[in-house]
Amino acid sequence: MNTPDPLRDLFLLRDDVVFLNHGSFGACPRPVHDRYQALQRELESNPVAFLAEDRDLPGRMSEARQELSRFLGACRDDLVFVPNTTVGINVIARSLSLDPDDEVVVTDHAYGAVARTWQFICERRGARLVTAPVDLPVESVDQVVEEIWSRVGDRTRVLCLDHISSFTALVFPVRELIRRARRAGIVVVIDGAHAPGHIPLQLDALGADFYVGNCHKWLLSPKGAAFLWARRDVQELLSPLVVSWGWRSARPGPSRFVDEHEWTGTRDPAACLAVPAALRFREAHDWSRVQRECHGLVRQVRTEIARLTSLGPICPDDDVWFGQMHTLPLPACVPQRLQRELREQYRIEIPILSWRDRQYLRISVQGYNTRQDVETLVMAMSKLLKNDAVFGARRGSA
Ligand SMILES: Cc1ncc(COP(=O)(O)O)c(C=O)c1O
Repeated sequence: MNTPDPLRDLFLLRDDVVFLNHGSFGACPRPVHDRYQALQRELESNPVAFLAEDRDLPGRMSEARQELSRFLGACRDDLVFVPNTTVGINVIARSLSLDPDDEVVVTDHAYGAVARTWQFICERRGARLVTAPVDLPVESVDQVVEEIWSRVGDRTRVLCLDHISSFTALVFPVRELIRRARRAGIVVVIDGAHAPGHIPLQLDALGADFYVGNCHKWLLSPKGAAFLWARRDVQELLSPLVVSWGWRSARPGPSRFVDEHEWTGTRDPAACLAVPAALRFREAHDWSRVQRECHGLVRQVRTEIARLTSLGPICPDDDVWFGQMHTLPLPACVPQRLQRELREQYRIEIPILSWRDRQYLRISVQGYNTRQDVETLVMAMSKLLKNDAVFGARRGSA
């Protein structure tokens, strides 16, 4: 019998799905979602009172930024809300000046949309995108730092790093790379899509130039809440992606940075305004403890799946490298087929990924998951690993 989990009941997820893919789009708890919808209803009850520049909205956005920035170890006016990480990265990439033959360095773990953004910009400026390979398994912080730094050269102007990568779910050793980049006068941009609410963050102390993160993944806010943080002395390097009333504002707010990026025309700000509710939900449910338990379940899956596949892990067993999300190597398989079998036969939602021609399973464990969820996955994998239609077809080429 599954033990009822009080946290599970606080999420809106369907009961008949074993949801092990928080990493893709998050999942919002019911009380946070209620707050979000209450804000939307309030907006529609008098859109002018809610949205007009001279009424409440700037103050309410500022309060939400205040609470978020406290959580992130940052100053309130050094961050602005953006709808998602992709937008935040675009603000930065489109703003920075690059000359022909300048180089932007990313790793081959970078998220596709982010790598494409840099490629797009490099092509327009005649600059070059350099992709630093980071081999698996990773063995030490020094190894990863040196692999990336070896691709940095005289022409490098920008270094863009994942804080937690998407496919490989690794926590990258950004601190040392930020230190080196800053010393070399290279602009350092951190893609923290998966980091806020997943690993501890102190943005001021971390000291990158720019940091972009999602609230709608691990921080548990509704979709459409993310932030762009910029160190005070480089804020002037950014131009707004969308020019609106905040450019040469007739009613200046706390800073040009906030004015130029916060209001981009009429949109629904409810997800951003619900971020404080997500922070309170986490506090009320002792989320540090929840996270430790989730990490424990991730480690359990890592050990049990490795026992089934006899494949070594992609990183050491240390929370330096992974938190609530982890990527496990699989024998050669047909990934779409495996994902479909897991979904249709076992009602398990989990991504099966291909990276450098090898297949991996990426598990995410969030507070709503139970030990039974991970046991269901292990049971399903133990059966499917014997299924020739899924694994057999490519076994010869493994
Ligand atoms: C590392 C990384 N960067 C950027 C993104 C893009 O996030 P969004 O779709 O919210 O813009 C993701 C999404 O999963 C990601 O994993």
